[in-house]
Amino acid sequence: MSRWLLTGGAGYIGSHVLRELRNSGRDVVVLDDLSTGYATRVPDGVPLVEATLSDRTAVTRALTDYNVTGVVHLAAKKAVGESVEVPMYYYRENVDGVLALLEAMNDVGVKNIVYSSSAAVYGEPSAGEVAETAGTVPTSPYGETKLIGEWAVRAAAAAQRIVGGGLSNVSLRYFNVAGAGSDELGDASVANLIPLVLRAVTSGQRPKIFGDDYPTPDGTCIRDYIHVVDLARAHVAAAELCEQDLDSSRSEVFNVGRGSGSSVRDVLDVVSSVIGEELNPQEVDRRPGDPAVLVANTWKIEQDLGWRTEFDLTDMVSSAWSAWPHVERLRG
Ligand code: UFG
Repeated sequence: MSRWLLTGGAGYIGSHVLRELRNSGRDVVVLDDLSTGYATRVPDGVPLVEATLSDRTAVTRALTDYNVTGVVHLAAKKAVGESVEVPMYYYRENVDGVLALLEAMNDVGVKNIVYSSSAAVYGEPSAGEVAETAGTVPTSPYGETKLIGEWAVRAAAAAQRIVGGGLSNVSLRYFNVAGAGSDELGDASVANLIPLVLRAVTSGQRPKIFGDDYPTPDGTCIRDYIHVVDLARAHVAAAELCEQDLDSSRSEVFNVGRGSGSSVRDVLDVVSSVIGEELNPQEVDRRPGDPAVLVANTWKIEQDLGWRTEFDLTDMVSSAWSAWPHVERLRG
């Protein structure tokens, strides 16, 4: 019997992962402190433990009360810019969070973890398309905390191997997540390019382009945008890998992107055609810390997990647009 604890399961990405894990036939329990998530995103019949990861008793009880066999760990702070302003907060939330979780898992003997990491661990890669073997030199506290989390997971698994135990673990390095699997599940944080453009358009403002003098064909930054439903399905594939691999306790890292780059102007063009309006963007200064190009090499996840993406940039923008009225209602 497989039952997964999903931390951060009431959030934007978490609610999609929740849906896909359940579609795959797995039982799920959500642990979320609801600091950015919404209880309404956890469907009836799925237990919701409202707690922070630092509440060791609550985490341990959730693991034992529900006979949890694996954890998908998403709960974390994720705004790159904010992490530069309040780094200690990010270290406390993200690093203390994963450490507390790993200790609780160790205490009660949970043997599988899928860890939510980020392309931010690569920092400013020298090559345009990054493979998992590329150097990890994060350029923000957020990226640092995600990388430390990967190390902590790996170290916990190595320690288990020494004592003859197991901790199968997979870290997923997300690229730029966008879109919605249904109208109620849109990204309510409005902190990334597509939601920010939709907000500008619906509030009569001009979308901003942060820098148009990058060494790219149109001068704007290139990113690898991935639909949140494709991303969520990568978690199911990762959970499966863990479940098949209890004995060898492998530590795996996978990029989760489409392997295809789109510039800020490309994204604005797609938004314009989806909503049927000219956007009249405003070019402003570069945003500190933005690499010119960040695109995934997706060979490894395709090869090892048989995972493929189904959705393209137009699907991401159209679904985000369709979910937009609901996002605005949620935000009040
Ligand atoms: N951008 C604009 N105008 C805006 C907002 C963003 O031009 O109003 C630009 C940014 O400068 C960047 C691109 O659009 O070049 C994408 O920016 P986002 O803020 O949407 O995303 P980031 O690439 O900075 O970061 C995102 C996630 C991180 C994750 C990273 C991995 O927010 O958590 O992708 O690639 F680590």
